[in-house]
Amino acid sequence: MGFAQSVNRKRSEEIKDFGGEEMVKLWRCEICGDPYIGSAPPQNCPFCGAHLPYIKEAKQMVVSFDVTLSDKDRANAEHALQVEVSNAAFYFCAAEKTNNDEGKLLFKALGKIEAEHAAIWRKILKLAKVPTGNETCHTENVQNLNESHERETRAIAFYNKAALESDNSRVKQIFEALVEIETDHLHLSEERLK
Ligand SMILES: [Fe+2]
Ligand SMILES: [Fe+2]
Repeated sequence: MGFAQSVNRKRSEEIKDFGGEEMVKLWRCEICGDPYIGSAPPQNCPFCGAHLPYIKEAKQMVVSFDVTLSDKDRANAEHALQVEVSNAAFYFCAAEKTNNDEGKLLFKALGKIEAEHAAIWRKILKLAKVPTGNETCHTENVQNLNESHERETRAIAFYNKAALESDNSRVKQIFEALVEIETDHLHLSEERLK
């Protein structure tokens, strides 16, 4: 390779590193622990919906689900698992049955996120698998949006209470992150019910 060619090659590598074409990195969500490949950290975890402050480069991140639970934390984690299993089942039902194309997509996205939340509690509770949910839903999209609003409101109230009741920093962190995520879900139904 001649001198000019070698300078050109070096320059194109520099452009790749600093701007022109961004290098992808491996990110990890501190709440659900799942990894994500992208040139920038996602604004919300694509798996559990946690906000940007919980997403860091995977190599800098230690995520633990090995928590010693107090009796109160265990009872709250068990209830949280039931809430998430039930909400995921409701959303997957609505994704099939609701009579609105955008609604089907919204409920599918919400179902996947609530299933990921159930998986967080499965790991905290050290269960072999997530229990199967079984819920009914509506064909009218507005009724599904109203039920979504009720379910998210109940989840937020419970997670706020559970966060306050916990003395464990990891359990508190998960409940607090879930309050933010379920509040985002509340806004999605509110916007559509206006
Ligand atoms: Fe959830
Ligand atoms: Fe939610």
